[in-house]
Amino acid sequence: MMRGLYLSFAFLTTSLGSRQGEPTAPLATRGSGILRSSVRSVAGQRGPQRVRRQDSVGLKNHNDGTLYTIDLSIGTPGQPVTVIIDTGSSDLWVNPVCETSGQPSFCSSFPQFDYTSSSTLQDTGAADILSYGKGNVTLEYVTDLVAIGSAQIKDQVFGVGVESYDIPVGILGLSPPTSDAQTQYSFVLDSLVSQGLIESRAFSLDLRNVDDPNGSVIFGGIDTGKFIGSLEKCPILDPTETPSGADRYWITMTGVGITLPDGESQTSDAIEVPVFLDSGGTLSRLPTAIYQAIGDSFPGAQLDQSSGFYYVDCGVGKQAGSVDFIFNNKKIAVPYADFIWEVDEGQCVVGVLPTDDEPVLGDSFLRAAYVVYDQDNRNLHLAQAANCGSNLVEISSGTNAVPSVTGDCTGGAEQASATKTFDATRTRAPTNVGSSKVAGATDVGPGPAETRVSVTGGLGTAKPTVDKTTGGATPTASPSATKNAAAPGTSLCADAFGVAGVIYVVAMVM
Ligand SMILES: *[C@@H]1O[C@H](CO)[C@@H](O)[C@H](O)[C@H]1NC(C)=O
Ligand SMILES: *[C@@H]1O[C@H](CO)[C@@H](O)[C@H](O)[C@H]1NC(C)=O
Repeated sequence: MMRGLYLSFAFLTTSLGSRQGEPTAPLATRGSGILRSSVRSVAGQRGPQRVRRQDSVGLKNHNDGTLYTIDLSIGTPGQPVTVIIDTGSSDLWVNPVCETSGQPSFCSSFPQFDYTSSSTLQDTGAADILSYGKGNVTLEYVTDLVAIGSAQIKDQVFGVGVESYDIPVGILGLSPPTSDAQTQYSFVLDSLVSQGLIESRAFSLDLRNVDDPNGSVIFGGIDTGKFIGSLEKCPILDPTETPSGADRYWITMTGVGITLPDGESQTSDAIEVPVFLDSGGTLSRLPTAIYQAIGDSFPGAQLDQSSGFYYVDCGVGKQAGSVDFIFNNKKIAVPYADFIWEVDEGQCVVGVLPTDDEPVLGDSFLRAAYVVYDQDNRNLHLAQAANCGSNLVEISSGTNAVPSVTGDCTGGAEQASATKTFDATRTRAPTNVGSSKVAGATDVGPGPAETRVSVTGGLGTAKPTVDKTTGGATPTASPSATKNAAAPGTSLCADAFGVAGVIYVVAMVM
């Protein structure tokens, strides 16, 4: 009982006429293999939350989680489509079902892709179900033109939602294929390279601080006007070295600290905690001892046992403190303003929750970091984000594709010396228990756990192997088949000119 694409979509007549919230044209520039596109921060009414066992269920309030989105143009003629930019998953898909999105009016404020109006769209006959931290989508894979600014990707495979829950905007996944089953087609980053639009599978993501809606993603390039100092090179951990066993942007965090409003700085002893960078998650999740140490360090913080949130006065965001994350030689200081989250009118929480399985640095960290994601060489490069103009530098190909450039900006909290030890190792019994104001709020956006199940029944079962009789393109294998595993003992970050780099070289010689 095969149901074709068009039949499946019969009930999906959506609000294409809606003008409210329609995105402005993406600011994208293209030239010499660099493709820059603006990333907008969008306040959601309430997003898909990752519900974990330790969180109680049922969110009363419509929380303002921030989604980071990019505008694409899909089809012929091109239609504007807004999607969440997600470093925690790999597929591109559009058209969430707004009625079951958890926030129908917010969802329908974005134009949906009308597949019937595109003359270049081809059905592949393949379908799948993708599950995120919270929310899932049943989609059918099609191919069509996908444009990022003036760069046009031909025959890009992507999903069109047929049934979806708890996700208000489609998703552009930029992670490596998270399982072997996924390597069967060319994701957007792969296609940008295979179609000659950029040189290697690398991009920079600059989300900006919470008051700045003007972040950007640069495919194949770096903007030295957007960070301070050197870029610290952190090897992406081999899947076997990670808690999830999945190939995502996992790196090793070597310390945490805080800088108090009065300037006192504390840094933990050396630790080695694998963390995964997820632009699709509003919050960060860290091992319990670190979560408690950070939460307790906030002025006036009150722990709400039922939700796990540390509540703080929203005025804390105006104070000068920071939460500091250390990656070997590099300290990324996240100002209080970027690390707290206003969950409801006048109610703020510290942007971290505990996890005992998969530590994540979400948007509450990424707002303060400039990160270059180099999939081909399996490294992330991190620096303290700033904004002092714009100077685009191309990422070429080969092992030194990401150039050893230094940010043009000055200032920031780089390498302030700690005066005290930050004890982030001891878990203690919670003492300060606040009132239970918000139950179960977690974070917004697609979670790290994009998983797949086979679709049985009428929608077709295969992964997107395109039915050639429809004239669609045959998706090519992802180049990731050739990825290198990180050598043992080289999982720590290293400044290009730093001591760790020397140790690494010595270790290689021996
Ligand atoms: C998708 O999410 C809905 C709502 O939470 C749930 O009822 C359904 O079982 C999920 N489907 C899959 C395939 O996980
Ligand atoms: C964001 O960009 C717009 C348009 O260029 C500009 O008017 C606005 O000032 C920018 N916002 C910030 C916070 O820089």
